Amino acid sequence: SHQSLVLGIETSCDDTGAAIVDSEGNVIGEALHSQLQTHLAMGGIIPPIARDIHIQNISNIVETALKNANLEVKDLNAIAATVKPGMPLSLLVGTSFAKNLSKTWNIPFIPIHHMEAHALTARMVEKVDFPFLVLLVSGGHCLLAVVKNVDEFLLLGESIDCAPGEVLDKVARRLKLRNMPEFSTLSGGKAIELLAKQGDVTAFEYGNQPMHKYNDCSFSFCGLREKVHKHLEREEIKHNVEADQVLPSAADLCASFQHALFQHISRRLQRGMLYVDMKQMIPEGARKLVVSGGVACNNHFRKYLSIVCADMGYTLVCPPPKLCTDNGIMIAWNGMEKWTAGIGIAKDIDAIDSIDI
Ligand code: KG4
Ligand code: ZN
Repeated sequence: SHQSLVLGIETSCDDTGAAIVDSEGNVIGEALHSQLQTHLAMGGIIPPIARDIHIQNISNIVETALKNANLEVKDLNAIAATVKPGMPLSLLVGTSFAKNLSKTWNIPFIPIHHMEAHALTARMVEKVDFPFLVLLVSGGHCLLAVVKNVDEFLLLGESIDCAPGEVLDKVARRLKLRNMPEFSTLSGGKAIELLAKQGDVTAFEYGNQPMHKYNDCSFSFCGLREKVHKHLEREEIKHNVEADQVLPSAADLCASFQHALFQHISRRLQRGMLYVDMKQMIPEGARKLVVSGGVACNNHFRKYLSIVCADMGYTLVCPPPKLCTDNGIMIAWNGMEKWTAGIGIAKDIDAIDSIDI
């Protein structure tokens, strides 16, 4: 067939991912190595350790993706890799690897913006036309944007402090959820989602409305994190918990905390939708909200989002969880979108770090 083929490489944080997609969005081959277990054991991501694990895995991951696809490097039309944003040491591993491949085999290199890739992934699995609204919620980001085109994004708002996934991870660690065998291998967000199912949302009130006086679409999560941490300390004293013991009220705390976090995001999202409406940025009847990033895997959060969407006349589009978290497929697909549009190919590969993409 005359399908184009693009290889995507992702190493911006703690996942080493590679995949090959065709022009129709079929995944021809893929491989992913997650560092989650190492980082859970270390109590967080330590940048040089993350880099070393990427270095250990990158060639094997790319080879495996190609082998699964039954392809060789020379069969590819382009090689795409995340060049920003992310942890510099980690990014460098994937970017250098991709640049080397590209030079060695004389195949075009397409630099990719990690957040743009998250935003466009939905178009691989569903019909989502431009312009659409996108909400990205992950361990490193929270942002709301109008996607006008493959390479045209209008940022409506982002977090002014920390990211929601980061707060979920920190609270989960502080709650010592890792000491519960059923949660020991899960990300903080997933552990909190599961434990919250056994808890009472109304048990605790963290219901401030950060930024409600700000007439924009920014987000803020550090205030909530502080509140929850202080409350947790009081609960530990009250229940006299031992060093590695989990609070008896942990499930209630998770349910209430998660609720406050998702309520804040929902409120800011609603404000963004009102703004889009006012400025007539997306035609009525064609309004879609794409949600992605690791936190978008949360089913409880998806319920909140579906309520906001129903209320505001939007169709909610959530890619499958596997495509919401970091992976090589989304990078390959963004590369393919650029390849198809005839844009984004690096002219000077060696200057790529300073290129504004
Ligand atoms: O997008 P992602 O894989 O990596 C980046 O941060 O770019 O997102 C990881 C984040 C982690 O903070 C993790 O706790 C959170 O996504 N997460 C979840 C769930 N699964 C992963 N948060 C809430 N509910 C989940 N089910
Ligand atoms: Zn991500």
